[in-house]
Amino acid sequence: MKQPTAYVAGTGRGIPAKILTNHDFAALGVETDDEWIVSRTGIRERHIASAAESTCSMAAVAARQAMARANVAAGELDVIVLSTATPDRLLPATAVDLQAELGASRAAAFDIGAACAGFIFATSVAEGLIATGVGETILVVGSERMSSIIDWTDRSTCVLFGDGAGAAVLKRSIRSHALRPKGVLATYMRSDGTLADLLYRPAGGTTIPFSQAVLDDRSYLVKMAGREVFKHAVRSMSDATDRALDAAKLTGADIDLLIPHQANMRIIEATAKHANVSMDKVYVNVDRYGNTSSASVAIAMDEAIERGQIKDGSTVMLVAFGAGFTWASMIVRF
Ligand code: ACO
Repeated sequence: MKQPTAYVAGTGRGIPAKILTNHDFAALGVETDDEWIVSRTGIRERHIASAAESTCSMAAVAARQAMARANVAAGELDVIVLSTATPDRLLPATAVDLQAELGASRAAAFDIGAACAGFIFATSVAEGLIATGVGETILVVGSERMSSIIDWTDRSTCVLFGDGAGAAVLKRSIRSHALRPKGVLATYMRSDGTLADLLYRPAGGTTIPFSQAVLDDRSYLVKMAGREVFKHAVRSMSDATDRALDAAKLTGADIDLLIPHQANMRIIEATAKHANVSMDKVYVNVDRYGNTSSASVAIAMDEAIERGQIKDGSTVMLVAFGAGFTWASMIVRF
């Protein structure tokens, strides 16, 4: 196993106060019911941003909490890597708005787009920047205002998503001779762009700008082939757990907590079964948040620490899958 170059020094989350339960869809004119949503997905409620809450403002709440817990001031941040599929505007990156908001004047700040796998991609980028000496203290954030890009008239997608942000401060590891050094032990990332059209937003970029979008077909909102996505998610997340365990020379029995992307309870269960991790060692909050895309794994990790399910010495596996397709896994020792 390699000597870790970076460790998680603190985490945080920024969650809108407003809750939309499955029962609230009737009032929105969406033909669905609690039983259908719970039995197919495990989701009972999700948080929805108010008009005043943006991808940046939720990220800032998460970031400040992570920085306080890591005992890091804004001026100490070398880099901010923000993962989002819902930037507040297309130019510049939301990360620079976050930098300004935090007053992190020394930091280089940029966004990455890897959809629901984005937080693991972003953490891996941060780890690489630490390994190459570009920075020592890096803020990684996943923040999503999914309610802005979902089609509230499409019951097959609008019941699935929620808003929120999660953050972690990564710091350079101190070289140690400990038998179980803490930090990022293994990372695995893959993508398959040939399947991009199974989960995408047709309009709003430069090929079909908003000005030319056919507003009636709501082509500027998320389109998803749910069944196909489901199959690929199970296959890819299962593969990703194998790869990270192999790279860290560990087995499912060594994992104290598995944190899968919170999209669907059935995908979570299938992934855990494949990785040979029992469900009592799997963190689940999809029932309370729905799918918050790249914020999902970060929010879950922060909650798990707060609830004592991740302690000093815990070995944790993160795994996610999203639009692209993109998928990734990471093993971290706390
Ligand atoms: N309420 C009631 N009925 C519904 C709803 C709803 N909200 N949505 C769809 N239905 C109906 C459909 O219209 C269909 O009816 P029909 O048979 O009369 O045509 C029926 O339910 C079955 O629809 P399916 O789409 O086949 O249902 P399925 O069992 O596949 O479940 C679901 C749909 C939950 C979306 C599932 O496919 C899924 O979870 N896919 C993965 C999606 C996902 O996790 N995406 C995110 C991963 S990547 C990322 O996070 C960005």
